[in-house]
Amino acid sequence: MKTILVTGGAGFIGSHTVVELQQSGYDVVIADNLYNSDIEVLDKIEEITGKKPHFIKVDLSKTKECNLVFETYNIDGIINFAAFKAVGESCSMPIEYYKNNMNILLNLLDNMKRRDINYIVHSSSCTVYGEPDSLPIKEESPTKKAESPYGNTKQMAEEVLSFVVQATDINAIALRYFNPIGAHSSAKIGELPRGVPNNLMPFITQTAIGKRKELVVFGDDYPTKDGTCIRDYIHVVDLAKAHIVALNRLFENKNKKPLEFFNIGTGNGFSVLDVIKSFEKTSNTKLNYKIGPRRKGDVIEIWADTSFAEKLLGWKAQKTLDEMTLSAWNWEKALSKK
Ligand code: WQD
Repeated sequence: MKTILVTGGAGFIGSHTVVELQQSGYDVVIADNLYNSDIEVLDKIEEITGKKPHFIKVDLSKTKECNLVFETYNIDGIINFAAFKAVGESCSMPIEYYKNNMNILLNLLDNMKRRDINYIVHSSSCTVYGEPDSLPIKEESPTKKAESPYGNTKQMAEEVLSFVVQATDINAIALRYFNPIGAHSSAKIGELPRGVPNNLMPFITQTAIGKRKELVVFGDDYPTKDGTCIRDYIHVVDLAKAHIVALNRLFENKNKKPLEFFNIGTGNGFSVLDVIKSFEKTSNTKLNYKIGPRRKGDVIEIWADTSFAEKLLGWKAQKTLDEMTLSAWNWEKALSKK
């Protein structure tokens, strides 16, 4: 049984990926500093899979703490989620974002090189594309100058990987996520934003449950079908499954290059109002929202060309927008019962 280190594995996408890893027969070690996640997630994962993942609380951006993980566990492969990820916050604290996100990756790669661990799936983002020139966006579409330090760390991470794989035996797959939303069907794990949510879906469910007064839609004067921004929303479980497929590809040495990139989206673009409409239908509630000013840094529209992932990974997102919004609502209701 192979042992996979999942950094940031107590987080939203990480915890869903741990469930899929365990259900695919992998042994899992979670390394997390619990900065943006909750230790309770481990028990919830065990309730879903019957297996509690190994856990070590470390700050992976600190070299000694990162090394300790590899001195403690015999790791065969890595899935790296650990990073600060709030776009707006990164603009007000760029140094912390660069130090944290880059040191984590560099510490992991250093341990991989020294210990002959040759497989890593890395969390990247559609943010690397900036405002697309044409849609749907392909992996070879040009990346644009980042609009935030957060987005820049995602671009820098891809560049670091591109050089490191040339100088070592490390093989990497960078998955460029679009907009992950929703929650596991058990409603035992889901998105748990600290404080006021930055992202649309948790703000919608927290408004509907009464934790927030109203949702503000950031602008309805964009050149789109209904004036609101368009994104490629993908169910977090579909996204989690893509990580297993990517990891298997590396272990089976099927990757065509030492570093591969894949867009992990659904290939469909939905507007903010589409998401609100879907949520109102699946939750059978009327959402309290108003139109407000645009948010700085928002791209107008982006959605993925997913043919590369379908062809080479044999992976395709399965869940519909309604399944995403319903699962997010079930999770919010479960949270409110705690
Ligand atoms: C989606 C749409 C907002 C909140 C996210 C992550 C980023 C990256 C990419 C992974 C936009 C609108 C939002 C609100 C709103 N993920 N909105 N009112 O900006 O696409 O970026 O995915 O790497 O880390 O942040 O997602 O959910 O913030 O916004 O109208 O209260 O919803 O303007 O059009 P975004 P988001």
